Amino acid sequence: MYASVGLLLPVLLLLLPCVPGLPFYNGFYYNPGGRKLGSGHREGLFNGVKLVVETPEETLFTHRGANVTLPCRYHYEPTLASPRPVRIKWWKLSENGAPEQDVLVAIGQRCRSFGDYEGRVHLQRDGEHEASLELQNLRPEDSGRYRCEVIDGLEDESGVVELELRGVVFPYQHPRGRYQLNFREAQQACEEQDAVVASFEQLFRAWEEGLDWCNAGWLQDGSVQYPITLPREPCGGLGLAPGVRSYGPRHHRLHRYDVFCFTAALKGQVYYLEHPEKLTLTEAREACREDGAHIAKVGQLFAAWKFRGLDRCNAGWLADGSARYPVAHPRPNCGPPEPGVRSFGFPDPQSRSYGVYCYRRS
Ligand SMILES: *[C@@H]1O[C@H](CO)[C@@H](O)[C@H](O)[C@H]1NC(C)=O
Repeated sequence: MYASVGLLLPVLLLLLPCVPGLPFYNGFYYNPGGRKLGSGHREGLFNGVKLVVETPEETLFTHRGANVTLPCRYHYEPTLASPRPVRIKWWKLSENGAPEQDVLVAIGQRCRSFGDYEGRVHLQRDGEHEASLELQNLRPEDSGRYRCEVIDGLEDESGVVELELRGVVFPYQHPRGRYQLNFREAQQACEEQDAVVASFEQLFRAWEEGLDWCNAGWLQDGSVQYPITLPREPCGGLGLAPGVRSYGPRHHRLHRYDVFCFTAALKGQVYYLEHPEKLTLTEAREACREDGAHIAKVGQLFAAWKFRGLDRCNAGWLADGSARYPVAHPRPNCGPPEPGVRSFGFPDPQSRSYGVYCYRRS
C-alpha cells in the first residue's frame, strides 16, 4: 500500500538537505535495504523483536512564546546491538473541527517541516532512540494532541503527546450587541482580540474555575454552549445542575451567537496609561502610539489580568472600541465581589469618559 510510494523515492531522498520547500511527499519513503515488499501484511521485520514508542501520559502545560519539547523515545525489545535507521513522523491530530496537520518528517539527518511549523520545529538529535520534537515560539493554536510515529521498515509504532497552553477564556460580543456573529465572524472577532475561538476543553476548564456566562457562544467545533455555575431562571432554569450547557452544533453561516475566545499568556506588557485627561477613542489610540505602544486588545487585557494580576479600577478604551477594567483583587467601589475584567460595553467613541489601556511588546 503506502510502501509502494517508498520504492520510488529512497535514492532521491538521500540527497535532500533539511530545508523547507522541497518536494517531500507526505507518504512513507523509507524502505530499508530495498526489501521486497510482499502482500502488505506486517511480516514482523525482526522476528520477535518489538519496536516500542514511549510518550508521557500527562498533559504538558506551557505558555505562549515558550519553547517546549514534546518527549518521544523508542527502543527495541529485546535490545538490538546496532542502531537501525528509522523514519520519524510527527503530526497534530484532528480535533475540534480543525483538520489533521503534518508537523515534521525525518529520516536520519534529513527532515522536513510543514506549514505553520516550518522553521519552528526540530527533532532532538542528542541521544540514540530519541524522537522528541522541539517546538519553538508557541502560538495559541498549537494546543492539542501530537502523534509521534516511528517507522522501521514495515513496523511502525506511535504515541501521543498532549500540549496545553495556559490561557484564559473570555466571552465576546459584537459591538452591535448580543447574538450577532455567525461562525466565521466569530473566528474573526477572536482573532482581532489576539485570541482564537475556545475549544470545549478550554471552556470546560474555565467553567471549573468559575466562569458563569448566560449568553451562548460559539466554540471551535462549531457547537454553541454556555457555562453556568449558579443555576438561575433565565439561564436554563433552576432545575438544571451547574454545567456547560449546549445547543449542539449550529449552522456556521445562518446562526448567530456570541463567541468564547481563548487567549494565551503573552510576552508584552499591558498598562493603564497615566494621562492628565480622559480621552475619546481616537485620542486614546494616539496616546498609546505616542507612548511607543498600541492600544490594547481585549485578549491582551484578559491575559494581563489573569497572568500578571493587572488590577486597576479605572475604565479604559480598548482597540475594539469597548471600555473595560481589570480587577484582580476585588474591593469596594470597584465592581462586583469577584475578580474579573469589567466591561462598559461599547460607549460612544466621542465621549471623554475613559482612559486607555496600552500594550507594549517586550
Ligand atoms: C527558543 O529557542 C530559540 C532558538 O534556540 C531562542 O532564540 C529563543 O530565545 C528561545 N525562546 C525562549 C522563550 O526560550
